[in-house]
Amino acid sequence: MGRFEGKVCIVAGGARGIGGKTAEFYAAEGGRVLIGDVLEKEGRELAARLGAGKALFQRLDVTDPASCRAAVERAAGEFGAADHLVNCAIRMAPGPLVDLAPEGWRLVVEVGLHGTFFMCQAFGRWLIAQGRPGAIVNLSSSAGLAPYTLVGAYSTVKAGIIMLSQQLGLEWARKRIRVNAVCPGHTETPLTAYLRDPEIKRGRAEVTPWGRVGQPEDIAHGILYLLSDQADYVTATWLAIDGGLTPSIFNHMPGRKWD
Ligand SMILES: NC(=O)c1ccc[n+]([C@@H]2O[C@H](COP(=O)([O-])OP(=O)(O)OC[C@H]3O[C@@H](n4cnc5c(N)ncnc54)[C@H](O)[C@@H]3O)[C@@H](O)[C@H]2O)c1
Repeated sequence: MGRFEGKVCIVAGGARGIGGKTAEFYAAEGGRVLIGDVLEKEGRELAARLGAGKALFQRLDVTDPASCRAAVERAAGEFGAADHLVNCAIRMAPGPLVDLAPEGWRLVVEVGLHGTFFMCQAFGRWLIAQGRPGAIVNLSSSAGLAPYTLVGAYSTVKAGIIMLSQQLGLEWARKRIRVNAVCPGHTETPLTAYLRDPEIKRGRAEVTPWGRVGQPEDIAHGILYLLSDQADYVTATWLAIDGGLTPSIFNHMPGRKWD
């Protein structure tokens, strides 16, 4: 019997990448999934692949609180419950902060930080009204732990997501709603299209102590652990899944030797 037999998960930003793999693994372990995303074609295709009764797609724009509420209500209506939430939605606005246009800054903050908050609030309110326990995993990043140069809005948002997760984890602990963040290192998804360049991929693998870039599977396994009952005592914290990248700064100091 799978860890998520009889359970229901909403994956916001679940049409592809890390969210898509999480939805796939959750369903493979017996759960049912609502895939919410602005990408309708990819989301519908993934839901169809996972199978009717196992997965459904709903158009979701996390920047709109009403859309977030509708996703929670649809999951509860169609599946009879909602137990878990994973927040993956993000948009990027690269470039030096000195040149970043207000629209770029707003886009990243709206989708990444406001969107994560609106989804958590819609889901948390529903759980609390039902008197149900639950678990949430919010996608932060190594960029939430260390400043990621040239994507400053992203780094700022990802640091905020860690604090938001800790904040909600404490507020909702006695409601038995666990809230944690995951901090992936560079992971091969449509978001990181630059990893399709073999030179960049090799270079990123080299600076990662584990010697390779991450795959969506690596991150999905960690997310599912945090959602599962095995993590019953884990809340208001974050889990780095980065092959050792984030704490490895001294590996790069002249005079140090490492493989
Ligand atoms: N890929 C990496 O290297 C990496 C590293 C660290 C953290 N992360 C984080 O993991 C999460 C997933 O990233 P990914 O690499 O799978 O990226 P991705 O671009 O493949 O997935 C992000 C999804 O969010 C959706 N989305 C965008 N705006 C939305 C909105 N307004 N409402 C609903 N959905 C929306 C996109 O359509 C897409 O399906 C992100 O939060 C990202 O910051 C990724």
